[in-house]
Amino acid sequence: MSEATIESVSHEHRVFPPTEEFSKRALIGTREEYEALYRRSIEDPEGFWAEQAQALHWFTPPQKTVEWKAPFSKWFVGGTTNLAYNCLDRHLDGPHRNKAAIIWEGEPGDIRVLTYFQLWREVCRFANALTDLGIEAGDRVGIYMGMVPEAAIAMLACARIGAVHSVVFGGFASDAVRDRMIDAEAKAVITQDGTYRRGSVVPLKEQVDKAVDQCPNVEHVVVLRRTGNEITMKEGRDHDWAALMETASPKHEAPALDAEHPLFILYTSGSTGKPKGVMHTTGGYMVGTYLTSKYVFDLQEDDTYWCTADVGWITGHSYIVYGPLANAATAVMYEGAPNSPDPGRFWSIVERHGVTIFYTAPTAVRAFVKWGDDWITKHDLSSLRLLGTVGEPINPEVWVWYRETVGGGRCPIVDTYWQTETGSIVMTPLPGAVPAKPGSCSVPFFGISAKVLREDGSEAAPNEGGLLVIDKPWPSMLRTVWGDDERFREQYFSRFDGIYFTGDGARRDEDGFFWVVGRIDDVVNVSGHRLGTAEIESSLVAHDDVAEAAVVGIPDELTGQALVAFVTLKGDREPSPELNQALMDHVAGDIGKFARPKRIRFADAVPKTRSGKIMRRLLRDLAAGKQAHGDMTTLEDISVLATLQEHQEE
Ligand code: PRX
Repeated sequence: MSEATIESVSHEHRVFPPTEEFSKRALIGTREEYEALYRRSIEDPEGFWAEQAQALHWFTPPQKTVEWKAPFSKWFVGGTTNLAYNCLDRHLDGPHRNKAAIIWEGEPGDIRVLTYFQLWREVCRFANALTDLGIEAGDRVGIYMGMVPEAAIAMLACARIGAVHSVVFGGFASDAVRDRMIDAEAKAVITQDGTYRRGSVVPLKEQVDKAVDQCPNVEHVVVLRRTGNEITMKEGRDHDWAALMETASPKHEAPALDAEHPLFILYTSGSTGKPKGVMHTTGGYMVGTYLTSKYVFDLQEDDTYWCTADVGWITGHSYIVYGPLANAATAVMYEGAPNSPDPGRFWSIVERHGVTIFYTAPTAVRAFVKWGDDWITKHDLSSLRLLGTVGEPINPEVWVWYRETVGGGRCPIVDTYWQTETGSIVMTPLPGAVPAKPGSCSVPFFGISAKVLREDGSEAAPNEGGLLVIDKPWPSMLRTVWGDDERFREQYFSRFDGIYFTGDGARRDEDGFFWVVGRIDDVVNVSGHRLGTAEIESSLVAHDDVAEAAVVGIPDELTGQALVAFVTLKGDREPSPELNQALMDHVAGDIGKFARPKRIRFADAVPKTRSGKIMRRLLRDLAAGKQAHGDMTTLEDISVLATLQEHQEE
């Protein structure tokens, strides 16, 4: 089958310009200002980035902005800096010294506030504690924790001494921890006894014990007591966090680290194969997360910013810890589930702490829709001024609901497109300057040369679907796949020689706005129409009764492939043959007869990754009448899959 371009079938045309009130106060308040800065960043990237980097502290200023020998880049060459210094020490001489850096809320309801000064002291102590254990610059340190301030402290302490952290999401089990620790040859693991999740205790230390038994390189395990569940401490290997901190000095001078000193490894699973250790380095990542945090979230001195991600994902790295702290912002951090003790928890947090900026994932927004508006409207959300999403395309109807119901119709939404690999946001509207179109991640951020290409490498015409690439280097891009330069080249730079391929399909509309239509691996070919799954799902979600939809292709003799849609209904709606027919007609009317699903399966939930993305790979097996197979370690809730399998023949 020839690989024709991807067809884009969305008819979304609504446009929401920034309100005058927002633009007036915004750091970038006009489209012209955005355009001028963007043009400059593309025409003179070296000058632009050199200038931006000056906002941060360098022990030795960089000699050269970038060296690029595809696929390898070096940024701020010759410069030395320290990311933890920039996130903490830099803010101590002045009014930020006693500003809240982290406002933390535990799932049981306990609250802690750490000022910049307090956070700095904790990080310095822990940096000394790690050094006392023999951890040196360049050593790898695993972090397997829940959402507690100590997770941020551990990350910052590693960054401070130049140890390379590898955070493993606390929802993974011991095998995932083991594989990642072995691949990175970690010398130490930092964990906690347990973490709270929906009222119960998830025993993290127990998982680490199982994992570390099979990791010959791990010499030390540091254990924070959080939940008080029983744990075993192995003499000589395991150390109590509090005991280490008690004896560690709070005085620590941040060393000058090379701009290209490795900062962290974060594993990301592709659709096949073992997880890739995406490696980021110090200087470029620092400048990228600093600048995007500032302009995308329009961070102002009095903002209370909340990103609901987990520190186990890139979003938590870049937009809970490093980006906001580099900006001396106040960040909220929440330990638990959004529906603990009830589905109003997020909104009570917004109300209690006066959150002004709220950044979450489309999967969470779809859950809010499903749970019903009452949980939201009973809270005072008038402090909010800006909303954001990340992680998947957001269905336009869900976007509009988010704007109206959560944002009271007044808050702009930034739909931020990026990846673990890009390190920081690469496409987004700037909230005071660029109008938003529901479902579009809008326009490239400064310095990002994004394009949509045809298979032959030529640029696609407006509204013609194709492959999303970034054809120039940018500071926060991944430097390699840990220990595997060849895989790095093959994975990201081989589709088009020397050009970064995102793995996503997209189109660019007549205004230059980008629309991501889904992962290339998920493209479906029906009667010669190559369709991204996102747009068909959005059509289904636009139906009043639908909360969430996942569309996959199955082999079909007549049409090549046919569509099967898994549909989750809103709270109180019931499946029926009439609704089934209505949904099919809805898609046929909305997109065209060729996009009418062959079959609709109603489901209470669809399988997702632990970071909330729909796992279409597993649904493809089920839709074809097979048992799901392949790697399931990233699956969030195995019972969702089991239920679907049980109902296979219904
Ligand atoms: O497919 C795109 C989707 O998420 C992928 C990156 O996933 P991950 O590395 O886990 O990072 C997620 C957090 C940055 C992308 O290749 N994606 C992310 N944001 C968007 C998106 N798709 C559409 N719109 C977005 N805003």
